[in-house]
Amino acid sequence: MTEVVIRPIKESDKKAWLNLWQQYLTFYESTLDDEVTETTWKRFFDFTETVYAAVAEAADKTVIGFVTWVTHRSTWAIENYIYLHDLFVDPSARLKGVGRQLIEYVYKIGEDTKADRVYWQTQVHNHRAQLLYTSVGKRDGFVVYRWPKS
Ligand SMILES: CC(C)(COP(=O)(O)OP(=O)(O)OC[C@H]1O[C@@H](n2cnc3c(N)ncnc32)[C@H](O)[C@@H]1OP(=O)(O)O)[C@@H](O)C(=O)NCCC(=O)NCCS
Repeated sequence: MTEVVIRPIKESDKKAWLNLWQQYLTFYESTLDDEVTETTWKRFFDFTETVYAAVAEAADKTVIGFVTWVTHRSTWAIENYIYLHDLFVDPSARLKGVGRQLIEYVYKIGEDTKADRVYWQTQVHNHRAQLLYTSVGKRDGFVVYRWPKS
C-alpha cells in the first residue's frame, strides 16, 4: 500500500481537484457545464450543504485521488444514509490501495456520524471498480432507473 493521507478537501486543492474531476468526467465520456462544477466545488465548503469531499495526498503532497459523498434521510432508518457519489484515482497511482483508502475514509465518516449505511453504484461494465467494491462492500440486487429518459 502506497503512503498516502486521506484528508478533507481544502480550498487550495481546487486546481488539483479540477484536474482529477475533468479526468473523471472524461472517464464517463461526460461533460458538465462549468457552473455545475463550480457549484459542486462551493458546496464542499458550505456547512449548510450535505455535499462533502476528501482527497488522497501522496507523500510529496500531490493530490492523487478524491471521493465525494452526500448524506440524506431515509424512510427505512432513523439515521442518515451516505451516498458515495464520485471516486477517482489518478491512473498513475492505481492498484496501490488508494481507492480502498478513500472508500474506508467514508466508512469512518459513517461510523463517526452514526450513519445507517454507505452505499454507491457503478456501471455494469466497470469491472475494475467492481473488483475493489466486491472486496470492501456487499453487492445488493437493485437496478438503477432514472428520469428523464434522455
Ligand atoms: C476504481 C478506482 C477508483 C480504483 O482505484 P485504485 O486505487 O486502483 O483501487 P485499489 O488499488 O484500492 O483497489 C483495487 C482493487 O482491485 C483489485 N484489482 C484491480 N485490478 C485487478 C486485476 N487486474 N486483477 C486482480 N485484481 C485487481 C485489486 O486487487 C484491489 O483489490 P484489493 O484491495 O481487494 O486487493 C480507479 O480504478 C479509478 O479511478 N477508476 C476510474 C474511475 C472509476 O471507475 N471510478 C469509480 C466509479 S463507480
